[in-house]
Amino acid sequence: TFEVELAQSGQTLKVSEDMSILEAVEGAGISVMTSCEEGICGTCETSVLSGQIDHRDSVLNDEERAAGDTMMICVSRAKSDRLVLDL
Ligand code: FES
Repeated sequence: TFEVELAQSGQTLKVSEDMSILEAVEGAGISVMTSCEEGICGTCETSVLSGQIDHRDSVLNDEERAAGDTMMICVSRAKSDRLVLDL
């Protein structure tokens, strides 16, 4: 379990092991554009303001992963206890 802070909407959500960040965000009533929900299309790409990302998608290249400022929230998770997203 880790926390996701949504910088624009001012909410902090808990993301448990059995749910995606996308599910947590949608559960908080925030709509996000999605398509594949499998980490392959790039539609759900979201800016990350802080925190360590556990990238699990097939969209970003190594440089983009290392930069750590964007993620696919349908599949990727957090390595740190907290992520701050630009949502
Ligand atoms: Fe396709 Fe997330 S919805 S990568």
